[in-house]
Amino acid sequence: MKNCWFITGTDTDAGKTVATCGLLQAATQRGWRAAGYKPVASGSEMTAEGLRNRDGLLLQRYSLPGLRYAEINPLIFGEATSPHIVSQAENRPITAQAMSAGLQHLKKSADWIAVEGAGGWFTPLGEDFLYPDWVAREQLPVILVVGMKLGCINHALLTARAIEASGLVMAGWIASNVQPPQYRHQPYLQTLIHSLPAPLLGEIPHFTDDQAISSCGQYLDLPESVRSATY
Ligand SMILES: Nc1ncnc2c1ncn2[C@@H]1O[C@H](COP(=O)(O)OP(=O)(O)OP(=O)(O)O)[C@@H](O)[C@H]1O
Ligand SMILES: [Mg+2]
Repeated sequence: MKNCWFITGTDTDAGKTVATCGLLQAATQRGWRAAGYKPVASGSEMTAEGLRNRDGLLLQRYSLPGLRYAEINPLIFGEATSPHIVSQAENRPITAQAMSAGLQHLKKSADWIAVEGAGGWFTPLGEDFLYPDWVAREQLPVILVVGMKLGCINHALLTARAIEASGLVMAGWIASNVQPPQYRHQPYLQTLIHSLPAPLLGEIPHFTDDQAISSCGQYLDLPESVRSATY
């Protein structure tokens, strides 16, 4: 499947979920049956329907209608810590097979999929099992969300090098203003545009109202040249 992307970030809280919701909006507007996929989520609340994670619920909201929560987020943990730690503590291993099975299943309904990782690039999922090992198994092109703040240039370049070292392609990056833009915002942006080996897909402005998530698709281009399901 061509339109299946992995969304990583310069760090946890870089703005991956908001950017993923924006990409889903942009893809839906262009006629795709778009879905978000969060294979592994930690940090969740117990509800009447069972454990629910904020990222999973947001991705469900901006995905094509009718998908069950477990189709968006099959592996879910309560404690907000690194997935490999809670997985070991609860004796519920995270396996590449389960993550891939969920993705295969989602492909039956969706033709444009954005997979949100957890934390930054090198998040461990188990002993000798890092998130990028699974991304490499699936050969997903990567979109990097850069949380625009002090230190982000170093984090962005380290992540871009690590993606390349995993033998994966960076398809684009998104500037995410998780903080109000700082005085030197433009030189930061220009440095990133110059240094990162993939196009800038857009910049999400800093918002003060959570409702703004519902319209952030307008700031983003889709990766690659395929922009509409009707072409
Ligand atoms: N453009 C923005 N303007 C203002 N706040 C933002 C913006 N983008 C993200 N945020 C806020 O920053 C926080 C982190 O964003 P988000 O949840 O998208 O990050 P993440 O990288 O997905 O984090 P995690 O590692 O937990 O998955 C959230 O509270 C979110 O509402
Ligand atoms: Mg997130």
